[in-house]
Parts: sequence; structure tokens; C-alpha cells
Amino acid sequence: MSDPLAFDAPFLLGMMRLHNAYELSTPTALADWLEARLDEGLHWFDHADIYGSRECETRFGEALRARPALASRVRVVAKVNIVLPGLDDSGFAVKHYDTTPGYLSASIDASLARLGVERLDHLLLHRPDPLMEPAETAGALDAAIDAGKVGAVGVSNFMPEQWRRLQRAMRHELYAHQLELSLAHAEPLFDGLYDAVLNDGHRPMAWAPLGGGSVFEDVLGSSLSSLAETLGVSRAGLALAWLRRIPGSPVPVIGTLKASRIQALVTDSNLTIDRATWFMLLEESRGHRVG
Ligand SMILES: NC(=O)c1ccc[n+]([C@@H]2O[C@H](COP(=O)([O-])OP(=O)(O)OC[C@H]3O[C@@H](n4cnc5c(N)ncnc54)[C@H](OP(=O)(O)O)[C@@H]3O)[C@@H](O)[C@H]2O)c1
Repeated sequence: MSDPLAFDAPFLLGMMRLHNAYELSTPTALADWLEARLDEGLHWFDHADIYGSRECETRFGEALRARPALASRVRVVAKVNIVLPGLDDSGFAVKHYDTTPGYLSASIDASLARLGVERLDHLLLHRPDPLMEPAETAGALDAAIDAGKVGAVGVSNFMPEQWRRLQRAMRHELYAHQLELSLAHAEPLFDGLYDAVLNDGHRPMAWAPLGGGSVFEDVLGSSLSSLAETLGVSRAGLALAWLRRIPGSPVPVIGTLKASRIQALVTDSNLTIDRATWFMLLEESRGHRVG
């Protein structure tokens, strides 16, 4: 039987930049955009309550309410536990992390309400919290799964002992893992972090898979452009093929909202590259050969 929580799309659509997309600022325009993406087979959307200081989740929910038939077709990843300075009511206006049960339960309910979906398919702790009490945090996360509000819990930006401390206290298995990984940020492949993700059975997602656009700059950018031209693919598609070549095939979480760029990435999503090409691009990105 297929896993209903698996990331069964060539990539996830990141919603971090949605509040800046003027052309998607009405519910109807965003609903049209969502419907076009769903028809392309792109049904996974990556959210966080801090994106646009909640505005991205709110806009997404307004679009689904404008076109209710879409709600059952979307799958969402939601991230919580960062409190932005403007939303901190302590009087210090301090950016901080909160993994207390009350905060997490309220955040889950608030994201469900803003997004207008019945379940957060994946809930990720956005950042490791040095003040986390694992038993308390785990209790709230397990309870959210038991209540059907969350499909599975995962983490983002955690180091191995941080997620293992949480896992030891949880009844449910941590499922997904979102880490920064790209040609512009390949360190996790060399410092053991990525191996730990796979060893612990987490499904990897790569955030900022194009380095926020920086892979197109300098020497790496030139190499991507010339090789892409030779292969007859887009340079962004080539950069994502580099990621997919990695064992465990981390699923990219892309940031562009431009339909033409997204379509190019769908077209190039079956591109595979060989070992030498992979290391050549790595060398171009790091400016030196492997040891
Ligand atoms: N877990 C975390 O801590 C964390 C942190 C950061 C981000 N994220 C997630 O990762 C997602 C992606 O992050 P990101 O936006 O930095 O990712 P990205 O896909 O690496 O970078 C997107 C940027 O690349 C630019 N770009 C230039 N040429 C492009 C091309 N040909 N195709 C596609 N993009 C091109 C885009 O410009 P245009 O917009 O003009 O197309 C956009 O500014 C976010 O939306 C968010 O969901 C998670």
C-alpha cells in the first residue's frame, strides 16, 4: 500500500515568498495559480506560520475558501515554534523559540484555521529550541497526531542529538526532515548530518535548493548555464538534478512562484546526471577539488 504521507511530487512549492507576490494577492488569482499547479501534479506546499508574519498562510486559506474544491487536493507541510519579535507579547519584543505544549497546540490550531485545511499533513518543528523539555513537547506532538490534526511530525534545522532527544520521548516516529541543502550549501553531505538523517529513517527535504538564487552566480552559475545548454535543459533543472542524485533523493522545496520557471522544473524533473558531472558541479561550487 502506498504511503499517503510520501512526497509524491518532483518538488514542494515553498510559500515563504507568497506575501511578496503582487500578482497572487487576490484570492481568485491565487486560486487560479493553485489550480494550475495541482493540474501539473504539484500538490505539496511548504508553509510556516512566520512566513509573511502569518500572511502567507492566511492568503493560502483565503484562496482555498474562494475555491473549496481545491482544499482536498492540497497537501501541506507546516512549520511552527519560531516567535517573531512583533508577535512576542512578553514586552521584550524578542525573537525566540517556543516548544511548550500550550504554545504548540495553539499554533497547530491557528495554522489549521488560517490554511483552511482539515489536517496538517506534516508538522515540523522549525528550529531546535535550547529550552525544550522533550517529554512535554513530545506529549503535545503525539496528541496532535492522535487527534488527527497532524499526519506526522518532523523537524527542520536540527542536529542529530537534538532530534534524538525529542524522538526518545515520542510514541510516534519522526517522519520528515527539512534541511538546507544545495550546490550552495553542501556541508551536510560531508559533516555527517545528512547521513544521520538517512540512518534515522527521516525523509529528507532540501530547503533553498537553488541557494535562494545564488547558485546562478559566479563560476558555478557559468558552469550550470553552459552544461544546461549542452544538455538542452534549464540551469535550475540541472541544479535540482544534482540534489536528486544524492542517495535518499532529497525532495527540493523550491521558492519561485513564477509559473514559467515552475513548468521548466517539472519538464526537467526526470533529468539524471552521472557521478563525474555531480563532482564537477560540486567542485565549481566549492572552488576546490575533493581531498
Ligand atoms: N526550514 C527552513 O528553515 C527554511 C528556510 C528557508 C526556506 N525554506 C523553504 O524553502 C523554500 C524555498 O526557499 P528559497 O526561496 O530560498 O529557495 P530557492 O528555490 O533556492 O530560491 C528561490 C529564488 O531563486 C530565484 N531564481 C532565480 N532563477 C530561478 C530559476 N530559473 N528557477 C527558480 N528560481 C529562480 C527565485 O527568483 P523568483 O522568485 O524571481 O523566481 C527566488 O528568488 C521557501 O519558500 C520555504 O518554503 C525553509
